[in-house]
Parts: sequence; C-alpha cells; structure tokens
Amino acid sequence: MIISGNHPAHVQQAAEALCAGELLGLPTETVYGLAADACNDAAVAKIFQVKGRPSNHPLIVHVAAIDAVAKFASDVPHFARALMTQFWPGPLTLILPRCPDMAAAAAGGQHSVGLRCPSHPVALAVLNACAAQGVWGVAAPSANLFGRVSPTRAAHVQSELGDALLILDGGECEVGIESTIVDCTRGVPVLLRPGQISRLQIEQTCGLKLVDPAALSTQAPRASGTLESHYAPSAKVRMMHADEWRKALLALGPHAQNLALWSTEKPSPDLMGAGLLWRAMPSDATLAAHDLFSVLRDFDARGVRTIWIETPPDTPEWEGVRDRLKRAAA
Ligand code: TXA
Ligand code: MG
Repeated sequence: MIISGNHPAHVQQAAEALCAGELLGLPTETVYGLAADACNDAAVAKIFQVKGRPSNHPLIVHVAAIDAVAKFASDVPHFARALMTQFWPGPLTLILPRCPDMAAAAAGGQHSVGLRCPSHPVALAVLNACAAQGVWGVAAPSANLFGRVSPTRAAHVQSELGDALLILDGGECEVGIESTIVDCTRGVPVLLRPGQISRLQIEQTCGLKLVDPAALSTQAPRASGTLESHYAPSAKVRMMHADEWRKALLALGPHAQNLALWSTEKPSPDLMGAGLLWRAMPSDATLAAHDLFSVLRDFDARGVRTIWIETPPDTPEWEGVRDRLKRAAA
C-alpha cells in the first residue's frame, strides 16, 4: 500500500510500523529503501527474505543525525568524522568498525557497519520519529529484488515487491543512483562504490588520497553493489559509442525489433524504424543519474529485449553512472 509521505500522520504510522518490527518502503534522495529496525534481527531477516539477498551481504544502517553514530560504530577515524560533517545528511555511506552487540544481523555478521544519514525530508522525518521511540538505526538496502535495478519511485517498489508492503511516497528520488560508499576501517579511505559525491570531493575533505579496493592485500567485505553483474534490467544492455550505435542502426535499417536506445542525440529519421524506442540521455551527469534507473525500468516494462546505451564520457562526474551501466551490461 502506498501512502503519502507529506502527511505527518503517515510518517508516524510508518515509524510505528518500523518500531513494531515491520518492513517499510522508504524514500531517500538516492533510491527507495526496504527498511527495518536495524537492531531487530527478526525484522532484518525479513529484508533478506523479501529481496532474495544472501544474508551475509551487509545492509546500510540509516541514522537521523551524527550523534547516533556512536550507538553503532566503536571508532570513528578523523577523516570519517570530516566526511560526515561535510556531506551528511546526504548520499554518502561510511563503513566503520561496529559496536559488537549492535546491528549484527543487519551488518551481515561483519565486524563493520555501513552508516548513512539521508537528506530526503521524509526519510529524516521517519528516522527522527523512530529515534524518539529508541530506534536509533534503520537498516535499508535498495527496495528491489537482488541483482535488479534500484527503484526511484514509490510505484517501482510496489510493482517489484507487491502491494502488501507499506510504502511511503516521497516522490521521485533526486539523485537516482545509490550512495557513494567509503570504507573507513582501513586507516585510509577506500572507495567501495562511486556515486554522486565524487572521488575529488572526498579526497579534498579527507586531505587523503582514496585507495582502490583492488590495491588492498585483504579483500573488502562483500558488497552486492560491487558484484560484477548488478543493477540489471531483464533486457540485454550494451554500451556503445555514438558512432557505433549509428552504424549498427544503419545496418539494421527498418528491421530493428524490440530495441531501445538511450543516447544524447536522436537518431536521424531514416534510422528511426518502428521497432525502435528512443529516449533522450541528458548530457549532464547529474541529470543522467537521476533518469538512469527509471529509463531502464521503462524499457523493461515496454517489453524491449535489447537496450543500447551511449557510453558516457570518461570524466570524473560520470563515474557513478558509468559504474552502474557497466554492471547492468555485465
Ligand atoms: O543509496 C543507498 O545507499 C541506498 C539507500 C536506500 O540508502 N541503499 C543501498 O543499499 O544502496 P544496498 O544494500 O542496495 O547497497 C548497500 C551496499 C551493499 O553493496 C553492501 O554490501 C554495502 O553497501 N555495505 C553495507 N555495509 C557494509 C559493510 N559493513 N562493509 C562493506 N560493505 C557494506
Ligand atoms: Mg542495492
């Protein structure tokens, strides 16, 4: 059931559901989350079950403010503190050493915990209402089935997880791709997942160079969003440069069937066969991130079998979108 996040009574209802151990579809500025009380292991188990996600893949714990971090993290390095102060509330998740008796199931049994304070006003209202009842953290992975495209609208959550789930409608997610994840448990900041908050912004705030997970001698913990194939629609996705898709369309002529194209330029009329569905890709990275997952979902919903996506420029502001596209195409 979808209820409007604009009504204080609905926010209260949602917070009460969480505090009672139920699941909730929660809007955030990045994507919608499938939320549960992070310290209620039975509620957290329902998240893994509903998503079909392996229970050793850790979830992100969402908090209302920085002061709740001390409830979950046993140590906060100086650079992590700087990142929180600079980017929270916002689309940044920090992996920190976990207080041993807190959120063990949510953390997938890891000795660390992922923490994020989201900036979406509806998310913050829910988190504050939960904190008022002594629930300091809300675990929430993206509200999609394991391996699929993250939802950026309430209706996406409903169509994927069913109408029995209580979903707070917070409108379209502004960012559109999941939070940037920085591992802060290794003495140096390690970028686990790129997002809207860029490498450069993080390095400038930390005063430290970001380390690549591949450069570490010990494996970083399992992170679903870092699996090679993830964020995948049902259709087959292929990334192509503008001259490649033009050539390929020309070769197909009027025979394009169940084919979709997301590109910055509209194909010329002679290339636009009836079997081709085209959507405009914004040439601004922030706008493209905002549209990405809903475009993929829309193509899927229209029964498209093949999706061609114009390869984004190899520049820093496109890193988050490029990362999601590579995984969707894997
Ligand atoms: O923007 C977001 O981060 C969204 C919204 C709902 O907040 N959430 C999200 O959650 O993307 P999820 O579970 O789909 O992705 C979280 C990623 C996973 O890849 C998970 O493995 C990683 O964060 N993660 C969480 N805790 C971790 C930990 N202790 N160590 C390493 N990775 C962790
Ligand atoms: Mg996810």
